[in-house]
Amino acid sequence: MSRLARTAWVSEALAIRLTSHRDQGLGQQLYVALRGWIESGELAAGEALPSSRQLARELSIARNTALSALDRLAAEGFVVSRPGAGLFVARLALAEAIHQAPIAPQKRQLSRRGDDLLADCALSGGHHRAFAPGIPALDLFPREQWQRLLRRHQQRAPESWLAYQSGGGVKALKTALYDYLRLSRSVRCTPEQILITQGAQQGFELIARMLTDPGDGAWIEEPGYVGAQVALKAAGLSLVPVPVDAEGIDIERAPQGAPPKLIYVTPSHQYPRGVTLSLSRRLALLETARAQGSWIIEDDYDSEFRYSSPPLASLQGLMDQAPVIYVGTFSKVLYPGLRLGYLVLPEALVEPFQRANARINREGQYAVQAALAEFIEQGHFSRHVARMRRAYRSRQAALRRALAPAVDKGLTLSDGHAGMHLLAGLESVACEQTLVAAGRAQGIQLSPLSRYFTGPPAQAGLVLGYAGSHEQDIARAGDWLARAWRRA
Ligand SMILES: Cc1ncc(COP(=O)(O)O)c(C=O)c1O
Repeated sequence: MSRLARTAWVSEALAIRLTSHRDQGLGQQLYVALRGWIESGELAAGEALPSSRQLARELSIARNTALSALDRLAAEGFVVSRPGAGLFVARLALAEAIHQAPIAPQKRQLSRRGDDLLADCALSGGHHRAFAPGIPALDLFPREQWQRLLRRHQQRAPESWLAYQSGGGVKALKTALYDYLRLSRSVRCTPEQILITQGAQQGFELIARMLTDPGDGAWIEEPGYVGAQVALKAAGLSLVPVPVDAEGIDIERAPQGAPPKLIYVTPSHQYPRGVTLSLSRRLALLETARAQGSWIIEDDYDSEFRYSSPPLASLQGLMDQAPVIYVGTFSKVLYPGLRLGYLVLPEALVEPFQRANARINREGQYAVQAALAEFIEQGHFSRHVARMRRAYRSRQAALRRALAPAVDKGLTLSDGHAGMHLLAGLESVACEQTLVAAGRAQGIQLSPLSRYFTGPPAQAGLVLGYAGSHEQDIARAGDWLARAWRRA
């Protein structure tokens, strides 16, 4: 085909394209069509293209429209202009390679670490929330008040809050937290020692990155919280499970070996067993950590929900200069999607953590933090927590009522003095599996206790979250579970 015939073919093909894609602007259509033909090889390297003038005439479009499409193709390297000769399709190594050997779809090739981590990243499926652990009462959240505060603080936000931040969080929030932590958790700190994070999870990651090197050891509770374990593993730590009994983590039974750099604990309400770390064990833990140079991560995720006594004092506040980094979260007291939590750091770690956090994780959401500070100051926070506490008491009671027939026949339930779930003891992992499978068939999600062990499970059971659903749903799911347990 002569050059003239070939460029005429391009113009004709374009005319057809332009009439069948009326939803896009003409210039964009022209660009997309030519680029597509070049990429697919229909317009081969070196082939001549019609000039902008020719295109404008033959397609009855403005010359500027044609010119802007051709200029864009030239700027992106799809066409080249040869002075005096016109426009030509550029030589694209990729387009030719595609024609010679089509590229296979990318294979999923994760690193060993990626594969290893993924094994711990099961996401809970299903929509039935009756037994989902760790989900708070989202239905009770005072959305209107919250929206009002958010709107106000978004409007008032100083321009500087739109830039990158490095202050470790909004001062007003740190001050509000300082008051709260001092009074209700006996935490010893100044407002400056608080670093706002995007949830506890980010806090664990930061601690692991800043205080350990790959290959260092970390003691973890067995059974324990998978989220924290994943963060520690991702930092290349070697996890050493330490058994938990009725008094909490028992470090006397920790394996001999190099002292760990980190010790992760949930002393107020062990997750998932629900026990409290006894005072003698708290003191022994602090003493051991100090003697061997370990840092304790105190994950205080749901202490607000105690039903028979006021919240317990924190481990961090038990002694001056305790080797403890206290981790708090708003995921349970407000809602997990908020992604706000905090660290209470020893003074020496404040500056390095704040600087690293600003660089590695990037701070932000200052208007949201300011709204949260006011939410706390105005008393909405404590009212909401009190309301949730009342609701959780009734929701737990509904679960207990529903499971009573099974309890009469020997099912054991944890005491439920605190928290958002009950632990039902089972005889064996096989029994767990039977119930989990039966639940799945009913659209009920059950969390087996064995999943919280890193090694062979020493106990079997079910972690039954009750906080996030209405009493009727809990009662229905509980009735079903009582019957299924008897069958199993
Ligand atoms: C033991 C424990 N710690 C912390 C958290 C909260 O983590 P985050 O603040 O990352 O949502 C949870 C939530 O499920 C938890 O169960």
